[in-house]
Amino acid sequence: MPKRSLMIIGAGGREHALAWKLVQSAQVGQVLVAPGNGGTDGAPGTPIRNIPAAADDVAGLLDAARHAGVDLVVVGPEVPLALGIVDRLHAAGLRVFGPTQAAARLETSKAFAKDFMRQAGIPTAGYAVFTDYAAALDYVRQTAGPLVVKASGLAAGKGVVVCDDLAQAEQALFDIMQAGAFGAAGDVVIVEERLTGPEVSLLAFTDGRTVLPMVTAQDHKRVFDGDQGPNTGGMGAFAPTPRVTPALLDEALRTVMQPAVDGMAAQGTPYVGVLYAGLMLTPAGLRVLEFNARFGDPETQVILPLLETDLLEIIDACIDGRLAEVDVRWTPGAAATVVAASAGYPGNYAKGLPIRGLEEADSVPGVTVFHAGTRRHQADVVTDGGRVLAVTGVGADLAAALACAYAGVQQIHFTGMHYRRDIGRQAGWQAPP
Ligand code: AMP
Ligand code: GLY
Repeated sequence: MPKRSLMIIGAGGREHALAWKLVQSAQVGQVLVAPGNGGTDGAPGTPIRNIPAAADDVAGLLDAARHAGVDLVVVGPEVPLALGIVDRLHAAGLRVFGPTQAAARLETSKAFAKDFMRQAGIPTAGYAVFTDYAAALDYVRQTAGPLVVKASGLAAGKGVVVCDDLAQAEQALFDIMQAGAFGAAGDVVIVEERLTGPEVSLLAFTDGRTVLPMVTAQDHKRVFDGDQGPNTGGMGAFAPTPRVTPALLDEALRTVMQPAVDGMAAQGTPYVGVLYAGLMLTPAGLRVLEFNARFGDPETQVILPLLETDLLEIIDACIDGRLAEVDVRWTPGAAATVVAASAGYPGNYAKGLPIRGLEEADSVPGVTVFHAGTRRHQADVVTDGGRVLAVTGVGADLAAALACAYAGVQQIHFTGMHYRRDIGRQAGWQAPP
């Protein structure tokens, strides 16, 4: 059998982890990443390299995939899904892994997702949808209890305002509906009941019928230790999370994941790809905060290192509708990842700063350094984004995985680098003094 050539769309730590995992497949000859980062840019000894097509340039991606003659495209981020990249590539006769534009509405339209959950009986926070500012204002003034205001469209994770009081809810409505803080993504607004409880990420593979869960994970969204400071794309993660017991996982599959996949199929928009539910474990039971139509970042950097099965075999089975035949196996240990970020992130930050210690970190046993916002510049790797690296450690248990990840991070240096020191503490883990 000739080796297969794959293309991954995206440029982050998630895409580096996907490439890293896919080249481990005996079937894979090369992996092209569009546009990729410094970690996927032809590092010596790996068959991974970048091709210059931006993740939001549908025509450019289609061209690149055709020219390179790849036989499978894997979509990383949500923006190309929202633009219908899967439909376009499929129409051009290419094999592609990810949901269609219609199926991806579970992520790209929060109003669609909420109405869908209501119809399918999937547990989620109570809500109302508005396009009219005055009506939304009336509603928040008449509603007792804390609220969350959300722009319905994609807003790079920033379109959600968790409000402590009425004044904040009014301000959020003004910002989104009057001042256009998120552009057209805020034309439709959801006002939701504010829930409390720990948050977990449940990702699953699906072929549109069968749902096979991945190991559960927890993300750390705030920039500073103790969950302080503004939200980010995610400062670290670990897997599996002890908060999701086998009984809870079973419940989540039964009440959330399977009904979601069945409901999408029943509407004539079958969902094929990775379905990611952000769940809150409230005192009243589990609730869906959001669906994502893709792998999570940085969850992927802890989930894939624990996957024993060939990822390509799973992806092929999803596309061909035979996931039920696949035995997806996981390593019994744990993984943790610590994100090294640029000074100022999630606000403004400088780029182009040289990064030292990457090889030293990678050579710590159990450590893999996934690049996110980096690029190659002559002999150096330099910073090129807010989240620069995700340093993953794998070990027999969470404490060992965390010790490993931190040992790796401590080898790395760039000017202004910062990272959270408390990844995993939500699971009851304490940093050694
Ligand atoms: P989302 O993009 O909808 O997942 O929201 C981003 C973050 O806002 C979540 O990870 C939660 O921390 C928070 N959030 C969203 N919806 C709610 C809710 N109904 N109650 C409390 N917090 C929420
Ligand atoms: N880790 C959150 C996300 O990927 O959306």
